[in-house]
Amino acid sequence: MKQTKIITQLDFEYLRQLVQQHSAVVLDADKTYLAELYLQPIAESAGFASITELVTYLRHQPLSNLHIQAIEALVTNETSFFRDTYPFEALKQFVLPDLLKKRRIERSLNIWCAACSSGQEPYSIAMLIREYYPILSNWSLQIIASDFSNKVLARASQGCYNQLEIKRGLTKNLREKYFQKQENEWQINHEVRQMIDFRQINLLHTWSSLPQFDIILLRNVLIYFDIPTKKALLKKAQQQLNSDGYLFLGSGETTLNLDESFERIQFNKSICYRLHNRYNKYP
Ligand SMILES: C[S@@+](CC[C@H](N)C(=O)[O-])C[C@H]1O[C@@H](n2cnc3c(N)ncnc32)[C@H](O)[C@@H]1O
Repeated sequence: MKQTKIITQLDFEYLRQLVQQHSAVVLDADKTYLAELYLQPIAESAGFASITELVTYLRHQPLSNLHIQAIEALVTNETSFFRDTYPFEALKQFVLPDLLKKRRIERSLNIWCAACSSGQEPYSIAMLIREYYPILSNWSLQIIASDFSNKVLARASQGCYNQLEIKRGLTKNLREKYFQKQENEWQINHEVRQMIDFRQINLLHTWSSLPQFDIILLRNVLIYFDIPTKKALLKKAQQQLNSDGYLFLGSGETTLNLDESFERIQFNKSICYRLHNRYNKYP
């Protein structure tokens, strides 16, 4: 007997548009099985007999919490501590020493994790700073971490990670030093948590509440956007970055053919980006 598909192509198309409109994330057309997997629990807990019923409801309602839940469920939050290792090596060995020298008079440093998911990325930076640059505790250090999803931000600000998450990218030494075991989870220490200013920011909206940054991490998020969105966000990043600042992208992302104001620089195995001299705002 032919099995009924849980999600129809039309419903999936509606969900793709919903997600793209609100986050710019373009869902792969062949990922209907993921939508089925992630939406089934939402449909059930909201009292719908099927995903079709849920989608029919969503189609006919103005934007609500249920729409947001569906969008958040369909957007990838994949992350880990010290993800890809090399960018953090570059921060430790080249980028932070360079900026410490350049900012030694004003003693101020601003860092932004622009799509921070459940917080492993900003906490990795905070731990790295505590380990190697404790001098920054006497500086005006601002680490802002943002995401459009309140769901991941709630987890991030709690700083609680399960057994699987705690094992990904974190050494035993850092785990023992900075985390406390709480039943089945590990919570990052208060001192590290309070170093991060978590904010809800949709990258598609205004960035006007943000300061100028010395380091921007816009990692593993551009990859989900279409080319006009990538270009628009790189332009905004260019404007938000100090002229001698650094931009980090994910390992599968680049500014090449998208924004010529950035030059690619390589530190050992890590690639990051700086503004070409001619794009410097303060020559
Ligand atoms: C794959 S995770 C990457 C997390 C982290 N930067 C890393 O590299 O491990 C992508 C994150 O981007 C967020 N995101 C997607 N679209 C966004 C948007 N328009 N504005 C802000 N955040 C967005 C998602 O919620 C998700 O947490």
